[in-house]
Amino acid sequence: MPFRVCHNEFRLLRDFVEQESGVCLGDDKTYLIENRLSKLVAENGCKTFGEFYLKLTASPLYDKLRASVIDAITTHETLWFRDRLPFKMLEEKILPEFHREIRAGKRGSINLWSAACATGQEPYSIAMTVLDFYLKNGYTETACCREIQILGTDISGKTLSLAAAGKYDDNAVARGLPPLYLNRYFSKTGQKTGNEWILDDRIKNMVTFRLFNLKDPVAGIIGPFDIIFLRNVIIYFSEAFKKTLLNRIARILNPGGYLFVGAGETVGGYSDAFSLMEQEGTVFYRLKS
Ligand SMILES: C[S@@+](CC[C@H](N)C(=O)[O-])C[C@H]1O[C@@H](n2cnc3c(N)ncnc32)[C@H](O)[C@@H]1O
Repeated sequence: MPFRVCHNEFRLLRDFVEQESGVCLGDDKTYLIENRLSKLVAENGCKTFGEFYLKLTASPLYDKLRASVIDAITTHETLWFRDRLPFKMLEEKILPEFHREIRAGKRGSINLWSAACATGQEPYSIAMTVLDFYLKNGYTETACCREIQILGTDISGKTLSLAAAGKYDDNAVARGLPPLYLNRYFSKTGQKTGNEWILDDRIKNMVTFRLFNLKDPVAGIIGPFDIIFLRNVIIYFSEAFKKTLLNRIARILNPGGYLFVGAGETVGGYSDAFSLMEQEGTVFYRLKS
């Protein structure tokens, strides 16, 4: 049974979440606080959200509790090859272009960032796309690993651990993963673990995971990158924070770099550092020169 949150408690917790993560909870989101945080309230021996808030902001265990609140309140919904077209654009337009530059000695590597990677489906879908591209074009896996770097980051440590483990159940692999890739890159474990699929090390080792809060400054900390996937996360942020973040992102994209946001998200109105690209019904962005 969830605890009830009163208006004042909601405001305190909502402001805490926004300050820590940038995630904005509108006034209609009291159920989110109640459904996602009640378990933590009980586990921490509190009887009300007010008591929990005091503990959260005063406890010496603050960091651990803060992380648990962020893990619980953030939405980690994701799937393989989400929206398909960004991965098609990667394979058919961007990789051939950057790859030609590598062959011409104008570029050393291709650095990709999945900036809110949740349980890993996005960076691993990128890795499969890239490896396929290399193999189809007659290049080796070694060349691929040498030339491609993929970083997956998220604010949620719990989610990142799942991503790094590379283990998925039947439901997760049924969401968007083409059967060809399931056969090629996954194996089913023994009876003990039942419906668990293990991702092949070839793909797993192509991605590095790291805890990173998009509220923190990026320049000089991570990057620079050639391609950034910032998908289905800015939708949770305030208008002001979207502006700050997208302008920060522009500063860590290499010249000619590409940015993908989610299908329901846009850069328009938040940053004029990008040109809008539209191809085959998908919209993405390129850093203006
Ligand atoms: C809905 S998932 C999107 C996953 C993936 N990008 C996709 O499109 O399928 C949103 C992710 O953003 C993460 N997130 C939310 N706020 C964040 C922040 N301030 N910094 C980094 N990640 C954040 C959440 O933890 C969650 O895993």
